[in-house]
Amino acid sequence: MDGIGSPQGGSGSVAVVDRPKRVVLGVSGGIASYKAVEVCRRLVDSGVHVVPVLTRNATRFVGEITFSALASEPAITSLWNGREPIPHTRLGQAADLVVVVPATAGFLAHYANGFADDILEATLVATRAPVVVCPAMHTEMWEHPAVRDNIATLRRRGVHVIEPVEGRLAGSDSGAGRLADPADIVAVVMGLLERVTEPGDLAGVKVLVSAGGTREAIDPVRVITNRSSGKQGFAIAEVAVARGAAVTVVSTVEPRALRGIEVLRVETAAEMERAMYSLAPACDVVVMAAAVADFRPKLVADSKLSKADGVPEIVLEQTPDILAGLARRRRPGQVLVGFAAEAGGDVAVKAAAKMAAKGVDVMVANDVLAPGAGFDHDTNEVVIVGSGGEQATVGLSSKQEVAAAVLDMVVERLRAVGRAGQENS
Ligand code: C5P
Repeated sequence: MDGIGSPQGGSGSVAVVDRPKRVVLGVSGGIASYKAVEVCRRLVDSGVHVVPVLTRNATRFVGEITFSALASEPAITSLWNGREPIPHTRLGQAADLVVVVPATAGFLAHYANGFADDILEATLVATRAPVVVCPAMHTEMWEHPAVRDNIATLRRRGVHVIEPVEGRLAGSDSGAGRLADPADIVAVVMGLLERVTEPGDLAGVKVLVSAGGTREAIDPVRVITNRSSGKQGFAIAEVAVARGAAVTVVSTVEPRALRGIEVLRVETAAEMERAMYSLAPACDVVVMAAAVADFRPKLVADSKLSKADGVPEIVLEQTPDILAGLARRRRPGQVLVGFAAEAGGDVAVKAAAKMAAKGVDVMVANDVLAPGAGFDHDTNEVVIVGSGGEQATVGLSSKQEVAAAVLDMVVERLRAVGRAGQENS
């Protein structure tokens, strides 16, 4: 089920079709189900074609007739009771976006594990459209490790999670777990749909991305490395493919299966340098998301260093700065993006200085000490600076959302040199 809900929902480089966007409004069974009615109404009022898909438990809270009366199509409540033999594939394939309001703990567990037992779950497994889930449950459930794990799994797959807020819950309880405001849910959905209507802004563009931390040998068994997971680099690759780019990733880590991305495995800074220098001349955009070791052992021992020989003195030497080298070799019009992992301070100022020193166009700065951001997390929080003085801040978001913001700035650059697809009107 990998890839479900990832931003692959963009329809590549196809022309924009002037039709209402189709949203599947999934409703699972919780007390907040009644608020999905308002989400439905607001989406329809915004010109969206809404197809309500209700679980059996949802119908215990709100009658399907309510949704049928307000939505663009009658509510669907079962895999079996309609005239269509396989309604979930039509729903999943035709959707521009799926939003689940509310997403109960039980629903999240099923979705995170790829169950396809009812019409809503099956639709989600059958879609490549972006997916938004809006959890709502009691505080104890929201804070349960199993629910946290399921949320993390979904985020890793690119699912957008609209976090619940603090407030009144069912009964006399209150706390974290209250469904986000329907107006806020609709705002997020409309924002994502706008992206869906701009497919292919990287169509025909060749993108090269580096990902992961390099490993520098001390002896045949020991290495110097860092905590980079490669997740941000692969998120850039994934989002670039969804927007129509041809993407190659030079990676030190094994990627999860990703459609349409060519991966070249390397281990050391020297191997990464060779690969990047040989591939970059054919590319329009080069993103150095890898955490390249700054230092490596000057000499690599031929055999395993032994304790019996005492504590070894390892002399380090600096590795080549691949990004600076790419900037020196860049072809006209090529857009170069670097990442600056900083530990505190004004990261935007530090990143801008690094951008100028290395001669690149865009620097993505993150504070590796900020909670939930940086190495090995599924989320990130960045400031993106451009050499023209432009700046964009992305609060704590999935690495896919960060990738989309970085690529937005890249597309602006490409448009300036006449390389990117024109804006869809
Ligand atoms: O100077 P600093 O290591 O902070 O710069 C980070 C950026 O430079 C990242 O984009 C990283 O991929 C790149 N880099 C590089 N070669 C190195 C060190 C960093 O390309 N030896």
